[in-house]
Amino acid sequence: MRVLLTGGAGYVGSIATERLLDLGHEVLVFDNLGRGHRAAVDARARFVRGDVRTPDELESAFAAFKPEAVMHFAALALVGESMKRPGLYFDNNFAGLLRLAETMRRHDVRRIVFSSTCAVYGAPAVVPMDETQPTAPESPYGESKLMGERLLGWYAQRHGFLPVLLRYFNACGASARHGEDHAPETHLIPNVLRTALGRQARVEIFGDDYETPDGTCIRDYIHVLDLAEAHILALECEAGGTFNLGNGAGYSVQQVIEEARRVTGRPIPVTVRPRRPGDPPRLVASAGEAATRLGWKPQRPSLRTILEDAWAWHRARPDGYGDRATG
Ligand code: UFG
Repeated sequence: MRVLLTGGAGYVGSIATERLLDLGHEVLVFDNLGRGHRAAVDARARFVRGDVRTPDELESAFAAFKPEAVMHFAALALVGESMKRPGLYFDNNFAGLLRLAETMRRHDVRRIVFSSTCAVYGAPAVVPMDETQPTAPESPYGESKLMGERLLGWYAQRHGFLPVLLRYFNACGASARHGEDHAPETHLIPNVLRTALGRQARVEIFGDDYETPDGTCIRDYIHVLDLAEAHILALECEAGGTFNLGNGAGYSVQQVIEEARRVTGRPIPVTVRPRRPGDPPRLVASAGEAATRLGWKPQRPSLRTILEDAWAWHRARPDGYGDRATG
C-alpha cells in the first residue's frame, strides 16, 4: 500500500515507517522537522518537508504520491507545554488535522490511522481503563486529540472515512535503529537512562505522596515496536474503531528506576520533587478491544525488555540523533 505518514521523523512515526517498509509498503514521510529529526527518516522512504497546517504543502504531497492511506503522527504531545500554550496545541493538533482531512477528502483517501492518547480520559474513575471510560481531558493536549477523534467521527459519517483511533498509553523502548530523542526531554524512561549515562546528575521524581503502594505514579509502559505493530493491523482494519494500546500492567516511577538500575548496572541517583501538575496517580490500559478486533498482542510487554532496548539505543546514541542540543 502507498502510505503517507505525517510526523514520520518523530519517535513513534519513525519506527512505524521502518516497520511498513520492512513489510514492503511504499512510504512518504511528511514532516516539518519542528520536533522530529531528518536522520530518523528511514532511507528507503520518500521524504517531504512540509507542515500539516499548510494546505499547499499537503496538496502537492498528495498529488505527487497518491497515497492510499494516511497515518497521522504529526502532533505536539506534552501535557505541561499544552497547559502553558493551549493555542499552539489546538493549531498543530486540531487545525492541522482539519487541513489533512480536507486534503484526504479532495483526493478520495479515506483510510486514516490516528495517534490519540490516554490523555483523552483525564483522571480515570476506574483502572484498568477500557474505551467505555468517559472522556474528560484535563489538558489542552488531551482536548485537542479528543477534538481530532470527533472530527474524524464526523468525516466517517459524512464522507465515508475509515478512521482507526489509537489511544496510546506510555510509549517507550526503541528499535535497533530508532529511539526517543526530545529536546527538552520530559519523559521518565529517557531521563532515567540519561542519568545512567551521566548526561544528567539525577532523576527528579515528581511526587512520592500519591495513593499508590510506593507513593509514586503508576503508568502502563508500552513498547514502541508493539505500537508500530498496532498501526500495521489498523491499516488492514475494515471497520475502523477506537482502541486503547497498553500492556494492562502498571509500574510505578520507583519500579522503573529500580529496574533501570538492574538493566544498566549503574547507580541512578534520584531526588524527590513536588508533584507535577496534571499527573493522574494511575493510568493502566485495558486493551481487550485491540486484542479482539485488531488481533493485537504486545510481544514485548516486560519492563525489562523495554528498558534493555531503550538502553541499547541511548548507549549507541548518547546525543540522540545529534542534530540539536538536548535539554
Ligand atoms: N516523571 C518523573 N520524572 C521525570 C519524568 C517523569 O517522576 O523526569 C513521572 C511523571 O510525573 C509521571 C511518570 O513519570 O508520573 C511518567 O511521566 P512521562 O512524562 O514519561 O509520561 P506521562 O505519563 O506524563 O505522559 C504520557 C504521554 C502523554 C500522555 C500522558 C497522559 O507521554 O502523551 O501520558 O497522561 F498525554
